[in-house]
Amino acid sequence: MSLKQKTRELLKRREKVLLGGGEKAMKKQVAMGKLNARERIYALLDKDSFHEYDLFVEHEARDFDMDKKVLHGDGVIIGTGTIYGAPVCIYAQDFTVAGGSLGLMHARKITKIMDHALKMRVPLIGINDSGGARIQEGVNSLAGYGEIFFRNTLSSGVIPQLSVILGPCAGGAVYSPALTDFVFVVENISKMFITGPSVIKTVLGEEISMEDLGGAKVHSEITGNAHFYALTEQECFEQIKKLITFIPWNNTQKAKAFPPKKPKSEYKIDEIVPNNPKQPYDVRDVIKTVVDDSDFFEIQELFAANMVIGFGRLEGETVGFVANQPKVLAGVLDCDSSDKAARFVRYCDAFNIPIVVFEDMPGYLPGVDQEHAGVIRHGAKVLYAFSEANVPKITIILRKAYGGGYIAMNSRHLRADFVFAWPSAEIAVMGPEGAANIIFRKEIESADNPEEMRKLKVKEYKNKFANPYVAAAKGYIDSVINPEETRNTLVHAVKVSTNKIDNRPAKKHGIPPF
Ligand code: HXC
Repeated sequence: MSLKQKTRELLKRREKVLLGGGEKAMKKQVAMGKLNARERIYALLDKDSFHEYDLFVEHEARDFDMDKKVLHGDGVIIGTGTIYGAPVCIYAQDFTVAGGSLGLMHARKITKIMDHALKMRVPLIGINDSGGARIQEGVNSLAGYGEIFFRNTLSSGVIPQLSVILGPCAGGAVYSPALTDFVFVVENISKMFITGPSVIKTVLGEEISMEDLGGAKVHSEITGNAHFYALTEQECFEQIKKLITFIPWNNTQKAKAFPPKKPKSEYKIDEIVPNNPKQPYDVRDVIKTVVDDSDFFEIQELFAANMVIGFGRLEGETVGFVANQPKVLAGVLDCDSSDKAARFVRYCDAFNIPIVVFEDMPGYLPGVDQEHAGVIRHGAKVLYAFSEANVPKITIILRKAYGGGYIAMNSRHLRADFVFAWPSAEIAVMGPEGAANIIFRKEIESADNPEEMRKLKVKEYKNKFANPYVAAAKGYIDSVINPEETRNTLVHAVKVSTNKIDNRPAKKHGIPPF
């Protein structure tokens, strides 16, 4: 055969494999409102940038008539490409081929591209659409998952790992996304659960739909497993692309700097925070007054909304924002918001992203529910994460900084590099009402008019402690700033911290309160 003939044969072979599970299965996939695996890759990556590997891999299973089955590419597509020019490794499970189920060779393809991503120190993106462990392949499927989980853990904190759930992700399969940095879900398409509705019905006698059990909303609002929620696959791909612009390729690099842009003039910093400390506002508006182009890219927007996290840029440099949200539960720290903040702080620290904290909260949430849910253990994660992080760390106290929350939200005592306060800041062991009721209890009770006396004592306490100047006098905060100086102050603080070195004692690893 001449080279030309051999090339023609190659193209024919390719064409056959590219059919995946065949036309019927592809049509079924489209009917479910889903793109096919290759379409997803093309929609996500830069045009013509995708290079596929292991196209001709075949399964080696023999039991249950598997020797008679041809599974093109063994149900998964792997390759490399670029997003806005940044290199990425990617895999996408092909549901049209045996339900995207994971057998030995399917797993080997995934682990091959994972190894490549780690070696080349580039982000890994996994598109999940699978019935889980391939039942016919028994322990080989389980082994495959184990190999994937091990690599997820090995790569954690070295390269960014993104999981996109675009179909079922059932059984043990859910643990790979759970081990990665960011999970993306799409309404009506994503389904994630350990045991499906039929098992639940058999074991517990309860009926529940897949959507209510582990749909996109459930994981975005309730479990916190998902970080980004989208209505369509296309919207989801836009979110992934945007995220890639904010993060570095690996833990030895910094995120790419962009040309600086001024915040939009419609966000006016002196008109957002109300004078009355009990009045709520949206802290995201404050963030929008300082970030370039007022472009704040929020993460886990629907989960534990009393804490806001996300990326923005200051004079072109990526910064991670952690902010109490006074609009929701007065911005308290509770179990979920602690988990949310702590994990994000560790992400930023691992990937050389400076952290800016906006603080306005009354402390940890009191109550039996929270105590029994483990607010001590969960709350400790915030202390651990901020103490451990040695990227540049800056705090702005906007209003309330009470009690344990004052310490936890990146205080000087946990080694913040800079702590600034607005003149509206109130730094105290607890709120003036609670404090006055405790320390002046006897005087209030024995007064002719206890209510008048209580008001007087609250005022007295407020004048003494509920301001930024006591903390400023002790150097716990570096400067009380005019709110209008906030962006300039932050830009400067990040700039002067560029070469920060603040090493921690050498150890194998710490024991965080997981
Ligand atoms: C082998 C599978 C499969 C699997 C689906 N298929 N899941 N083949 N192993 N796990 C095949 C089907 O037989 C079918 O093949 C094709 O994929 C499409 O599946 P359908 O059932 O027709 O699709 P649909 O109706 O859309 O239902 C999708 C589904 C359902 C909800 C995912 O297939 C399902 O419940 N699958 C099993 C899920 C599961 O329990 N997985 C194991 C979890 S245990 P044909 O040839 O007919 O087209 C696990 C342990 C891992 O994962 C532990 C690791 C630590």
